[in-house]
Amino acid sequence: MINLGVNIDHVATIRNARGENHPNLYIIAKKVIKFGANSITVHLREDRRHINDYDLKIISSIKEIPLNLEIAANSEMLRIALKYKPKYVCLVPEKRNEITTEGGLNLNRNKNKIKNIIKKLNHSNIRTSLFINPSIKDIKLASELGASCIEIHTGKISNLVKKNKKYISEFIKIKKCAIYAKTLNLEVHAGHGLDYKTTSMLKKITQITEYNIGHFIIGESINYGLRNVIKKFIKILKNK
Ligand code: PXP
Repeated sequence: MINLGVNIDHVATIRNARGENHPNLYIIAKKVIKFGANSITVHLREDRRHINDYDLKIISSIKEIPLNLEIAANSEMLRIALKYKPKYVCLVPEKRNEITTEGGLNLNRNKNKIKNIIKKLNHSNIRTSLFINPSIKDIKLASELGASCIEIHTGKISNLVKKNKKYISEFIKIKKCAIYAKTLNLEVHAGHGLDYKTTSMLKKITQITEYNIGHFIIGESINYGLRNVIKKFIKILKNK
């Protein structure tokens, strides 16, 4: 079974443009699950540019919503995660001036900090994933640090495909990483910049069992509706 997680940060971006409560994030989160997605992702950024603490409080209180919380690897975010106890946490790198999460975690530089955070999240029964670039070295480290999952950053392959550039070597790199991660008993996820085309391509890598997709789904929904877009992704993920 391949799971689809939908990142709803961009719904909050639209809501925040007017400082009111429309579109309502909680209604959208419930709809995403009703339409067949397996989880909701929100990224609580340090500058709270889209999702805020109140959103997290409300969404994490709705039990029928399996929540994947993306956070930077620091003590403030760990405290928040342990308070709201989402089902899943994904640790991501964060820079204030980036538009979106550019690149994976630097595991080597932050070994002890990340190991400690994973230990505390594991202790609270929160499945923890590390957002990393497709790198064998990082996968080995992710396993040593105690993560149960990795999420492979698919930004590079997504850009290559969108620009009609050669993407095969990046695809092979991701495939090799996914195969290696499975040998270490890591669950393999993928996300960033994905659309129908790149998801269909990556789906051939059978080791990848979860896709987390945000911007394309929310953007495409303006044209075709959230239900139709989610259904189309589910169809792609189910196709043999
Ligand atoms: N996965 C992770 C870990 C992310 O940080 C993001 C972007 O917030 C996504 C998936 C979704 O990326 P996109 O919005 O480009 O689909």
